Amino acid sequence: MKIAVPRERRAHERRVAATPETVKKYIALGFEVVVEAGAGLESQVPDELYQNAGAVIEPDLARLYQGATVVLKVQRPLLAGEAELDELALIPQGALLLAVLSPFNTPESVEAYAKAGITAMALEFVPRISRAQSMDVLSSQSNLAGYRAVLDAAYEYDRAMPMMMTAAGTVAPAKVMVLGAGVAGLQAIATAKRLGAIVSATDVRPAAKEQVESLGGRFVMVDSEETREAETAGGYAKEMSDDFKHQQAELVAKTIQGQDIVICTALIPGRKAPVLVNDEMVASMRPGSIIVDLAVEQGGNCTASKAGEVVSVGGVRVVGHFNVPSRLAADASALYAKNLLNYVTPLVSAGEGEAPASLALDFDDEILAASTLTRDGQVVHAAFAAQQAEQ
Ligand code: NAI
Repeated sequence: MKIAVPRERRAHERRVAATPETVKKYIALGFEVVVEAGAGLESQVPDELYQNAGAVIEPDLARLYQGATVVLKVQRPLLAGEAELDELALIPQGALLLAVLSPFNTPESVEAYAKAGITAMALEFVPRISRAQSMDVLSSQSNLAGYRAVLDAAYEYDRAMPMMMTAAGTVAPAKVMVLGAGVAGLQAIATAKRLGAIVSATDVRPAAKEQVESLGGRFVMVDSEETREAETAGGYAKEMSDDFKHQQAELVAKTIQGQDIVICTALIPGRKAPVLVNDEMVASMRPGSIIVDLAVEQGGNCTASKAGEVVSVGGVRVVGHFNVPSRLAADASALYAKNLLNYVTPLVSAGEGEAPASLALDFDDEILAASTLTRDGQVVHAAFAAQQAEQ
């Protein structure tokens, strides 16, 4: 059984899917691990550390993929037509591909995995059940993104975050509002509180209230019956009605004027991010205020944000960094690699006697059923198999 760990090739990606710690564990499980030369450099893992952990370093990508049983990646492989390199063509038929595959953004990639005969597993679809908590890449990465968003805001802010009483006068504490109190939002609240800010937050899920308050934040929310139904069985938010959106816009407009920093984290799985801050609201903030839009790559919570840019709108700086978890590549890779290890470990069946260990995949298992997109040349995930049938 061979695990291949390539260097990530997509723009703005500094993470890597394995660390020396996880390499050691894979080897103990019976895998041979091959890591592409330089794969960990931007996550502060030089080749030598992988080698010390027992991995083989391979400079040639085609040879890295040759004979791979499992391919561990952060982002989906490059497809023909996307770049000069057709990375998918190098992955052997029958191999398992584990990554954040973003299939809703690129349904054509799902077809391509099926055609290539690989078993593609989208880690972001792992269900939020207790058994799978340690495999939850969305949580591990969002947590870091929420933290970094506040630091990015503090960096752009021309004022201090905590209240400071000095002989020369008092510095007022920053007022921070967090839109969306999921994993990233809660970490943003905790980080802003630690920096001494006065923090408030909103969400559409009433369950968020207690969590925000337990971190010392003030919770504001539209008072509507609709919020009772706002949470899916998986814990995610649903798209709200136009009436609710209208009420929410009024609430945000009223609150945002007095804020110094707004951290936007609201997402709806499989859809465009909800627009919560419009141009008028941005214009109502005082000069020097900061908006960080973590949802910018999903369309943005703020109409003024631009992916990959820090834009100034009437003196308000709107921060839209790409791939925020990757801005903390070393920690993000360490947690992501651990998530992958926890996903792979139960798939390995230890060999009896002289027999080597092998993969034993039970596709009826809740976790595999939810995350497997393709296998045996077919699109098997319910959300995409239906689309394929319609075509
Ligand atoms: P997410 O990244 O999909 O969305 C971020 C937040 O935005 C969510 O709290 C969502 O309710 C909120 N949101 C969506 N539309 C909004 C709107 N129009 N206005 C304001 N807020 C809006 O969600 P995330 O962070 O992945 O967490 C979702 C839930 O899953 C949370 O309740 C979290 O505690 C829970 N969770 C459960 C885990 C488990 O293993 N049981 C693990 C991780 C999270």
